[in-house]
Amino acid sequence: MNEVLKAIRERRSIRSYEERPVEKEKLDQILEAGLWAPSAMNRQPLRLVCVTRKDDCDRLRRLNAAVMGRDGDPYYGAPCIIVALCLRSAATGREDASLALENMMLAAHSLGLGSCWINREREIFDTEEGKALLSGWGLGDEYMGVGALAIGYPKGGPVQAKERNESVIVRVM
Ligand SMILES: Cc1cc2nc3c(=O)[nH]c(=O)nc-3n(C[C@H](O)[C@H](O)[C@H](O)COP(=O)(O)O)c2cc1C
Repeated sequence: MNEVLKAIRERRSIRSYEERPVEKEKLDQILEAGLWAPSAMNRQPLRLVCVTRKDDCDRLRRLNAAVMGRDGDPYYGAPCIIVALCLRSAATGREDASLALENMMLAAHSLGLGSCWINREREIFDTEEGKALLSGWGLGDEYMGVGALAIGYPKGGPVQAKERNESVIVRVM
């Protein structure tokens, strides 16, 4: 198996992280992988916000948990959260952002880091507090949340792969 196929096969969603911060060089490489994702007509209607500032990470943890009506940390203690946003006006913004998120998960895996797609970003950035957070990042509410990644060094042993349903693939020959 070549390296790309191997990374696709071996990446797993990681749900426990070490506290130690991720090196800036590694985060830069992950973000670069997101930047090189395809987008419809190469419009790139995205913002990939890499959050390591503790206050902002904590606000995201609280806002995400509030969407679920729970306590706890939906980002599993990850020291870095990358939030993918797209322009509300972009017809394919969610598709474009999803591709960037997948590229970044594969890049993280290739660098020995764990990642996990975390949901509810749309709801977070539709709230007034979410919009205030966006504003603090220099972004207006023309952007909506698509998804986020928890990123960090995995804590604990290897994660068992979840089964795939072969009937997902339909061959018309
Ligand atoms: C759109 C989307 C939303 C997800 N949201 C969450 C989430 O909020 N929390 C979580 O722990 N995992 C989340 N996941 C991760 C999936 O549960 C995971 O990809 C799936 O169980 C397959 O496991 P694997 O990634 O290890 O192959 C999400 C994945 C996707 C694609």
